[in-house]
Amino acid sequence: YGDPSQKTDYVFKVVLIGDSAVGKSQILARYARNEFSLDSKATIGVEFQTRTLVIEHKSVKAQIWDTAGQERGAVGAMLVYDITKRQTFDHIPRWLEELRGHADKNIVIILIGNKSDLENQREVPTEDAKEFAQKEGLFFLETSALEATNVETAFLTVLTEIF
Ligand code: GTP
Ligand code: MG
Repeated sequence: YGDPSQKTDYVFKVVLIGDSAVGKSQILARYARNEFSLDSKATIGVEFQTRTLVIEHKSVKAQIWDTAGQERGAVGAMLVYDITKRQTFDHIPRWLEELRGHADKNIVIILIGNKSDLENQREVPTEDAKEFAQKEGLFFLETSALEATNVETAFLTVLTEIF
């Protein structure tokens, strides 16, 4: 979780975007504090958290914003849907359009299918998302904030690519 006494070489702003209740706040809580809550409340207002990591001997502070509308200056974005709610995946093209309209041209984007622990309630086949991501030039991973599956990898993928 980083050494706070270390100097920061880079600050990377990353935004979490997607429909309500897909798990954006819990993905962030898992990554920034290794916490998870099942009775997470809807996020109101603007929040961010930070985590410092070392990439190629440089100290990188990831400043992660838990809301849409904060795309300005972001160098990375995580577009999140819920694998158990088809509608949240169907809305992804709209989120992508909004993101591309407001963010830097070179922004690194990863598509995230969250709640992979709920396999028996799956409504979005992995292949559909993989295909969409490939077509749009996005990274793609399925995560579980609950089980801490792939959360670390998702952030590392984005942050390393930005770097
Ligand atoms: P808004 O703030 O309204 O935009 O929602 P959000 O995207 O931040 O969703 P949030 O993180 O608050 O999670 C919504 C609900 O889904 C909560 O009940 C979480 O506990 C639950 N949840 C989040 N991630 C997971 C996961 O990986 N697996 C399971 N089973 N539940 C999850
Ligand atoms: Mg939230």
